[in-house]
Amino acid sequence: MQSFRVDRLWPDPAADLDLDEAFAEFAPGPFPDGRPLVGVNMVTSIDGRAQLGGRAEGLSGRADRRLLHLYRVAFDAVASGAGTLRADDFYSHLPADLAARRTAAGRPAQPTAVVIAGVGPVPTDRRWFSHADQPRVLVVGGGPATGEPPGTELLVAPTDQPEPIWILERLAERGIHSLLLEGGPTTNAAFLAADCFDELYWTIGARLLGTDAMPMIAPIPGGSPWGEHPREGQLVSIHRSGDELFLRYRFGRIRP
Ligand SMILES: NC(=O)c1ccc[n+]([C@@H]2O[C@H](COP(=O)([O-])OP(=O)(O)OC[C@H]3O[C@@H](n4cnc5c(N)ncnc54)[C@H](OP(=O)(O)O)[C@@H]3O)[C@@H](O)[C@H]2O)c1
Repeated sequence: MQSFRVDRLWPDPAADLDLDEAFAEFAPGPFPDGRPLVGVNMVTSIDGRAQLGGRAEGLSGRADRRLLHLYRVAFDAVASGAGTLRADDFYSHLPADLAARRTAAGRPAQPTAVVIAGVGPVPTDRRWFSHADQPRVLVVGGGPATGEPPGTELLVAPTDQPEPIWILERLAERGIHSLLLEGGPTTNAAFLAADCFDELYWTIGARLLGTDAMPMIAPIPGGSPWGEHPREGQLVSIHRSGDELFLRYRFGRIRP
């Protein structure tokens, strides 16, 4: 397996670390009161675009691909919006070495995979539906009845666009206490609007696009509650891989 090197720029600067070792102790938190923790993982270009030709692929290099998996190791569940499933044939399944790291810690080998849809079509032919050893939850809006894809639990929300708090409550009932949200920008905006946005893992790919592609977080419909009083973030760490940066911010309301 290919290994990647990173420099930790802050805190405790250290050069030429193995990426896996640098993130071996990674754990989200502290946890908010009353609901699962939400960490958001996104990659953008230097000019802040989260899409390249309508997809996320190509915005960053292979070290970031490995880091995506390293973040997933630490979460109970990994979620994406339906727009991302329509755009990308992605999956949330961990490679064997990282699944083994979870089982060694007494946790399920795979995080629960979650897709959050509203009332639009869900492409059930995607690879996301293909891993028999991974629990899957498909959240849909309360529109016309949707069939339950094989091996996937269907959660039907009482609203057309499932509310983040409602989703997190249902996941908590299933023993899920941390959710890694991997976009897209519309879903990120819904979680920010609901004040369910505790941490951000942001990769800045060393590329400029100059396009009108979506940013990391879409504008919140009806206006942002943070427009006048921005949500303050705390910088937790910065790593560098070649010309790319991996940043971690904390936004959560911290449990005293
Ligand atoms: N750069 C990155 O790191 C990254 C990461 C992920 C995705 N992406 C890119 O982002 C694009 C997709 O993003 P997107 O913003 O169009 O789609 P998205 O956020 O993945 O999904 C949006 C959909 O989520 C559903 N939804 C469920 N609950 C909702 C709520 N409360 N509020 C709003 N929507 C809700 C709606 O589905 P219905 O349509 O069914 O109503 C909505 O259309 C793709 O190009 C993908 O490649 C980039």
